[in-house]
Amino acid sequence: MAAGIINGKELSTQLKERMKKDVTQLLGNNIVPHLTVILVGNNPASRSYVNGKKRASEEVGISSEIIELPDTIDTDELLEVIHKLNQNDAVHGILVQLPLPDHINDQHIIEAIHPSKDVDGFHPINIGKMMTGQDTFLPCTPYGIITMLAETGIEISGKHAVIIGRSNIVGKPVGQLLLNENATVTYCHSRTKDLKSVTRLADILIVAIGKPNIIDKDYMKEGTVVIDVGINRLDDGTLTGDVDFESALEKASYITPVPRGVGPMTITMLLHNTIKAAKGLMK
Ligand code: GUN
Repeated sequence: MAAGIINGKELSTQLKERMKKDVTQLLGNNIVPHLTVILVGNNPASRSYVNGKKRASEEVGISSEIIELPDTIDTDELLEVIHKLNQNDAVHGILVQLPLPDHINDQHIIEAIHPSKDVDGFHPINIGKMMTGQDTFLPCTPYGIITMLAETGIEISGKHAVIIGRSNIVGKPVGQLLLNENATVTYCHSRTKDLKSVTRLADILIVAIGKPNIIDKDYMKEGTVVIDVGINRLDDGTLTGDVDFESALEKASYITPVPRGVGPMTITMLLHNTIKAAKGLMK
């Protein structure tokens, strides 16, 4: 059976077209949706992600700015920047690009962002709402994955979803969203014994490890839906996922490529959350 390739780039383009209409309506009500992104230090990958977020915002008509801060900034100074943005009614969404320098506690900073402006969906209040199935900002990568599955017509209810990776940003929340959609969920991680014996049970396999090409067809049963969250840059500059795409193609029913898979969806869901914030829906 030939695997279906889930084209995240194409789906993002379609979703962004729909968002442009929402933005036009907001502008008609004199609301200019605005996203502020904070970039601390000079991590090239973070800089590239942040620029991508600004570019995509502008594509749909969301105004955005990047506040660049030196990596010598201390926690109190960064908290002060966030407090000012919390109080500024013209700012609807605040995103602090992670990771932060080692001397700053990520969690402390995340918790300073007002939950009604937390377009990353990382604030504990928003995570709690997600866990209890309430309307809230959903974390962008997990939300993008669920949206890809839904838009491709892939049934989640009753399916066994296996997740490799347990980060706060991807692994843990995507499991929760799949559970909310009535999947049976198994989490795997670096201490999981006999990983293959678990992943071979997966109807839906979500791979978020951060190591290039390490999951291949041996980890899959016939017909698995494979979602590859990895974005790894190889020495020759090419981007590749955590999944050996050519090998996985032989067994998958559907698979996301890298690039043009989950990555564009993450940014698109950020725009969705920013529009939701601008509509005042989370106040
Ligand atoms: N670093 C890697 N992914 C993300 C993300 O989704 N949001 C933020 N703020 N930082 C990240």
